[in-house]
Amino acid sequence: MIELRGERVLLRGYRPEEVDVALERIEESMRRFGHDARDDARAARRARLERSGTRTEWEVMFAIVVDGQVIGDVQGRCSDQAMPQGVWEIGIEIHDEHDRGRGLGRQAIALLTDHLFEEQGAHRVQATTDVDNAAMRRVLEVLGFTHEGTLRGFMPMRDGPPRDYEMYAITEDDRMRNR
Ligand SMILES: CC(C)(COP(=O)(O)OP(=O)(O)OC[C@H]1O[C@@H](n2cnc3c(N)ncnc32)[C@H](O)[C@@H]1OP(=O)(O)O)[C@@H](O)C(=O)NCCC(=O)NCCS
Repeated sequence: MIELRGERVLLRGYRPEEVDVALERIEESMRRFGHDARDDARAARRARLERSGTRTEWEVMFAIVVDGQVIGDVQGRCSDQAMPQGVWEIGIEIHDEHDRGRGLGRQAIALLTDHLFEEQGAHRVQATTDVDNAAMRRVLEVLGFTHEGTLRGFMPMRDGPPRDYEMYAITEDDRMRNR
């Protein structure tokens, strides 16, 4: 089991008693983005949560824990089929509004990004986010990710047309240069 500790944030796997709530949150998020949260794929989603805190074939996922409470989750995804080796894509969600804007997302992304470069063989870590997601864009920029361009009509939505997303990335070279 991997655990990553920051000043205020702990990244760790979900505990068995936390899995049901996390599953509901993931399914709600899938529906929001226009995906069909089919019941027959539920076991696979549950297994994914149960394997959080470990590196699977294509992912490392963590619960974000602050003062003993799960406030969200963060994931790094690599897939040898979909992306070149050493390229990881990250995602994050802090569930409740009142936990946002307190620097916790920034700390969680920083911990995960360092882990991917230092322990998981990343040479590039990328993230995409909605053109209007000012908080995520700011977090990425502050952490040294470069804005590389706009992915037009990228993210399908439940209501309305697909949204434009912004592509950000940080490379091993960027990190060496900024040492
Ligand atoms: C995006 C998210 C992960 C950021 O985490 P967070 O803990 O809220 O972010 P932080 O507090 O670390 O930093 C947010 C930064 O954005 C800035 N910010 C927030 N809202 C902003 C806005 N509307 N306009 C401009 N800047 C904004 C804050 O001032 C802060 O910058 P600062 O520290 O320089 O002042 C979190 O808000 C979240 O989970 N949102 C919902 C899910 C989501 O959008 N996930 C990302 C999908 S790609």
